[in-house]
Amino acid sequence: MTKQNQSESGLQVYVDHGDLIPMLQQIQEQNGYISSDSIQEVAQTLRISENEVYGVASFYAQFRFQAPGRHSIKICLGTACHVKGGEKLLESLQRELNINPGETTADGLFDLQRVACLGCCALAPVMQIDDQIYGRVTNTRLKRILESYA
Ligand code: FES
Repeated sequence: MTKQNQSESGLQVYVDHGDLIPMLQQIQEQNGYISSDSIQEVAQTLRISENEVYGVASFYAQFRFQAPGRHSIKICLGTACHVKGGEKLLESLQRELNINPGETTADGLFDLQRVACLGCCALAPVMQIDDQIYGRVTNTRLKRILESYA
């Protein structure tokens, strides 16, 4: 999508929103998340409003707006995991950690993301912490797993 803006010198500037997503992806790759300072910088660079940048970025689940935790938890909500209780597992995680997907715990220990499939559906419900896969996770097991990272 191309948008017409007026530059400080009065020239018409055409902003290609196709530039926005790659810029945000690059920032997230470098910093692990999109900070409010980054949103401001991108807005100035592309000459669009910060609201517009945030509006586009928040539409995509891939972008985070908080610094990641020391350990990243991915909870699978793909079909197999959904059928085997993935949603309940997510609710338990949210309760235990007191955060929602896309957020980081107050102590910075964990961040939480939901994903579509971790590629080991036979182990449903599945979650991943950093590079470690945990299959057939129950609520009791979940608490023990979290405690092992404390
Ligand atoms: S659906 Fe969960 S691992 Fe594939």
